[in-house]
Amino acid sequence: MHKEQLMQLLDKMTLTEKVMQMTQLRAGMVRHTQPGEVSGDYGTRMLSNEELYATGSILGVHDAQYLIQTQKEYLESSRCKIPLLFANDVIHGYRTIFPIPLAQGCSFDPELIRDAAEITARETAVAGFHVTYSPMADLVRDPRWGRIMESPGEDPYLVGLVTEATVQGYQGDDPSAPGRIAACVKHFAGYGQPEGGREYNTVDMSRGVLRDFYLPGYKKGIDAGAAMVMSSYNVVDRVPASCSEYLLQQILREEWGFPGVVISDYDSIGQTIPHGAAGDAFEAGEKCIQAGVDMDMMSGIYAVTLKTLVENGSVSMKQLDAAVLRILELKNKLGLFENPYKDADPELEKQLHCCPEHRAVARKLAVRSMVLLKNENVLPLTADRKLGLAGPMAKTRKLLGAWAEMGRFEDTVTVETGLRAVLGDRLVTAMTAELPGDDREDVPDETEQALETFRDCDICVVAVGQPSWSIGEGASKTDLRLSTNQEKLIRCLKAAGKTVVTVVFSGRPLELAPILDSSDAVLQAWFPGTEGGNAVADLLFGKENPTGRLSMTFPRDKGQIPIYYNRYNTGRPSYSLSYRDCQEGPLFPFGYGLTYTQFKWSSPQIRASGQREGKPAHCLEDGELTVSIGVKNTGDREGEPLVQLYLRDVSASVVRPVKELKGFRRITLKPGEEQTVSFVVDQQMLSFYNNRERFVFEPGWFDIMLGDNSHDLQTQRIWIE
Ligand code: BGC
Repeated sequence: MHKEQLMQLLDKMTLTEKVMQMTQLRAGMVRHTQPGEVSGDYGTRMLSNEELYATGSILGVHDAQYLIQTQKEYLESSRCKIPLLFANDVIHGYRTIFPIPLAQGCSFDPELIRDAAEITARETAVAGFHVTYSPMADLVRDPRWGRIMESPGEDPYLVGLVTEATVQGYQGDDPSAPGRIAACVKHFAGYGQPEGGREYNTVDMSRGVLRDFYLPGYKKGIDAGAAMVMSSYNVVDRVPASCSEYLLQQILREEWGFPGVVISDYDSIGQTIPHGAAGDAFEAGEKCIQAGVDMDMMSGIYAVTLKTLVENGSVSMKQLDAAVLRILELKNKLGLFENPYKDADPELEKQLHCCPEHRAVARKLAVRSMVLLKNENVLPLTADRKLGLAGPMAKTRKLLGAWAEMGRFEDTVTVETGLRAVLGDRLVTAMTAELPGDDREDVPDETEQALETFRDCDICVVAVGQPSWSIGEGASKTDLRLSTNQEKLIRCLKAAGKTVVTVVFSGRPLELAPILDSSDAVLQAWFPGTEGGNAVADLLFGKENPTGRLSMTFPRDKGQIPIYYNRYNTGRPSYSLSYRDCQEGPLFPFGYGLTYTQFKWSSPQIRASGQREGKPAHCLEDGELTVSIGVKNTGDREGEPLVQLYLRDVSASVVRPVKELKGFRRITLKPGEEQTVSFVVDQQMLSFYNNRERFVFEPGWFDIMLGDNSHDLQTQRIWIE
């Protein structure tokens, strides 16, 4: 449709139809299989048929057949015949489940992440959905918060790259094309730093911190063309994000020029009332539409209040029309006016869902997301020896992680299955009872039986972790250790003289210090998805080389939280980084990960084509500044180092983080091979938001850091202007 046709359609709509176009409900409500009352705290009123058949969008989990039928029934009964928009939370795969986003961040591989998102879009599109509520671009620092699993990690640059790749993978160049869906960047903004790691809690940060760390990730998603943005539940700077004019108007619309649809989070319009930002539903509705929320997800407040608010002049028709037009434009962009069913296809659904081609990409991404944290000359294993396998994650199919509702356990490859494919009956198992449903309970202690079963195994793989229900929304935790009996199992096997390979499944960094000495090797496997067990086997037996790097710092002790690499310095760093009762620094830093070979790093070189004679300054206007470092593979296996570039502005008008990742490059080196890796440092990389919220470059001294992870770096200080 052309814009004029959309405008004509808008003109024909009644006030009720406009208001309902801005409302998202559950499918059952429109199909009368659920009561038609609006949900949320305010929702007591039954919606009339006129209202129901003018609803703009449906949130729900179903399949192609159901959605085709829903759209059909809806269009038959609807006066305006504007197709419904079907949205769903497809976070790390639809039926083929990929590793959780925090793990995907560890791959440092945007291209592979884009491929995975493309597959996800294809599977979601044939199931009949038009939008996914993904990617989540909330930067995270607190492992107590259950939703860190949905974020690519603690670094703004990495979060931005993953967000961008995910949006591109879903939408391609044209979301109306077959197999494409619209992306919704969420949760805008700052949801990733709830105080104390407690779900939905207050976010209190300066605008400088918001600018430095939290906003860049969302911005990348918007620049990549994301069709939608979801406002968040939390308060930022004392205002709930869903009614924050600063966030939704000033930054999102005016500064970033976002043209798409802003949807609230589930009932977040209603939640402005308990926040204390609105006295009743009318005030909540008014504040949220004024701030710029176009569509109300499930609070029902727009449905119940907007008509009155327009009629009494509190909200202008112009404002309402602008929001409705954005929604119509989104539907048009998806091609729904031409084909309201888009790609929904029950037959293709059967063929594509979890097909071998999709599974192969899931296996590759799972391999690349796992991080080798320790290896005392144990890995890779050889397949010719008997191996013991123990632990609650050894036989479980619950390797998908939270937010994988459409994934199926029967499709999931367990660790046992993956290892058995290599070892056959040389694999023996013991103490494999699954984790109980209650986080406060432990697995039964069967260490004695395990020792007996493994009496002629020199090497034992122990698959441990926290259960998948201990992460995700509403799953904050105070205890980040493995359960008592899991730690005991590892200790006992080691004490009995076994070589212990610990494989950790979790949705957050855990406290691994208590099991580190008893483990000869540790592989952080996260929640790896459908192909999890195969990926573990690929890495343990060296079919694949480990390449994953931590997207989040691992604390030694949870008392250090929040602990992250890109902090601001204090005036007395030697005191303020330490605790009296804990060794200083993280257990494993951001960017860390081992391979099956070793590398030797040469001294970094800095070349500036704009360097003026007799002056120490590197002048960016006069030429390029290039920094490079040589890496040599000194081991006897092929390997892939990840060369990382960090910068620090050491004399700015506001303090800058001690290190900021600004680039990385992965190369493959054969044994003995050496390569030089170069980065061009430009003004953009050196700029930041000053205290007047302007993006500026301030000439001065900068530290240029290159190396293998955020801790092991070589630094050179230079003047740049
Ligand atoms: C979550 C969102 C999600 C929405 C719809 C909310 O509770 O915060 O991330 O997209 O529900 O399921």
